[in-house]
Amino acid sequence: ISTPASIVVHADKPGPTISRDIFGQFSEMLGNGVYGGIWVGKDSAIPNVRGIRSDVVAALRELRVPVVRWPGGCFADKYNWRHGIGPSAARTATVNMWGNVVEPNTFGTDEFMDFAGQIGAEAYININMGSGSPAEAADWLEYMTTDQPSTLGKLRAANGHPAPYKIKYLGVGNESYGCGGGMTADEYVTQYKRYATFAKNLNPAQNGPVKFIRSKDAMLEIAVGPDSEKTEYTDAVMKAWSQRPAYSWEIHGLSLHHYTGGAQGVLASPSSHFGEAEYAASLKNTLKMEELIRIHSAAMDKYDPEKKVGLMVDEWGLWAKPLDGTNFMFLRQQGTQRDALLAAINLNIFARHADRVRMTNIAQMVNVIHAMILTDGPRMLKTPTYHVYRMYVPFQDATSIPMELQGDDYRFGDFRTPLVDGIAARGKDGKIWLALVNLDPAKIADVTATIAGVAASRASGEVLSAAKVDAGNTFDNPAAVAPVATRVEFQSGKPIFRLPPLSVTVVRLEN
Ligand code: AHR
Repeated sequence: ISTPASIVVHADKPGPTISRDIFGQFSEMLGNGVYGGIWVGKDSAIPNVRGIRSDVVAALRELRVPVVRWPGGCFADKYNWRHGIGPSAARTATVNMWGNVVEPNTFGTDEFMDFAGQIGAEAYININMGSGSPAEAADWLEYMTTDQPSTLGKLRAANGHPAPYKIKYLGVGNESYGCGGGMTADEYVTQYKRYATFAKNLNPAQNGPVKFIRSKDAMLEIAVGPDSEKTEYTDAVMKAWSQRPAYSWEIHGLSLHHYTGGAQGVLASPSSHFGEAEYAASLKNTLKMEELIRIHSAAMDKYDPEKKVGLMVDEWGLWAKPLDGTNFMFLRQQGTQRDALLAAINLNIFARHADRVRMTNIAQMVNVIHAMILTDGPRMLKTPTYHVYRMYVPFQDATSIPMELQGDDYRFGDFRTPLVDGIAARGKDGKIWLALVNLDPAKIADVTATIAGVAASRASGEVLSAAKVDAGNTFDNPAAVAPVATRVEFQSGKPIFRLPPLSVTVVRLEN
């Protein structure tokens, strides 16, 4: 069965830049997210560079990951950075709250920075406000960023890195309304001012030559923001920002976390062997992202109509029930075509709100929740979501272009939503790029496009589709769901995109 749809792409009306950081990721010290997934140790038989596995690095490099958030999450608010530096054998082993297992701290600051460098990503460090202190955070920043021969500066050099590290983003606390300390919004703001005043980036290359004048490379501080639709944190943080004193502290972003659950909610619905009811429930739940962005962007507008402060969705993804036979708190789940479609829908939402949404970090990069990559000992596979991120690379730092869409809805029971979703942008290569998603499990969508403002006579691209919503890649069949090239026909000068059921298509228009 096929259904017609049409789009009008206004290439002559460019919108805001879709920041590359919208395609960022999150890696927490949790389960096999780092240990086994990224870090195998220098003596491992698994090929590695300084302990970091080479297959995972090679796969992530293809995604051009712009930024990685680390070390948490809830883990960040219990993390003592001093446990994770120096000779590996001398590091303090602690207990990791995720799974009640020994945290060897063999992957610490220097290993994370090495990993970020190997994949070509910027660092987003989340400091400990929950159980730490401003002094501890200030010392960590000094260790990472000073160019001076202070004790901490010399310690970093002795640990193998004489040059200061660059930190692009600094998260000040994490979910401080919950696992980060159960603070009211006002309590958080009081703490924020202390931490942000003292946790200073000392890297001269980022700070510029003149004291108190921030360079364009300055580290950007992110405050804890809303708990779902509640606006108390949004309001209190933005009010504080609007009254901030000159020179002592700043806020560049407000964090928003939103996870998608299935029919039974977050952490409760299966990640494999499910049917359309589960798919439709996840789809319905994930669309709440648009509403949350609208609510909080409007609340921010009250203090910041010029949109100077970004909304950073620094944790999001489809959070299913952990797989049977695994440590429940390791949060390992199967990746499927449902996840790929949800990832594309969310990336489209973020791109449509690029005027306010400046960074997002899918949770999480490897082996945890909505992962790009799964590993099993020496084996590695790319999930369907990985392929979406690879296909969307041309949208990094692209200029958004408005797009109108008309067509049928996808329906399941009482739920309905437009069957086709999509975005358009002018890439850094100067070409027009389109991403089109067909959410229907049975219908092909034939989308006729009118492109205003450019002449196009050819189009080429890739499509990621699957026959079933729960189709996924396994270690025995790692390429069961993978993109293939797509052909685009033109009729009367207009491209017609034939979108298979359950598919994500990314195409480039050519003259
Ligand atoms: O991503 C898993 C956890 O979810 C994070 O640690 C926490 O911030 C959120 O609640």
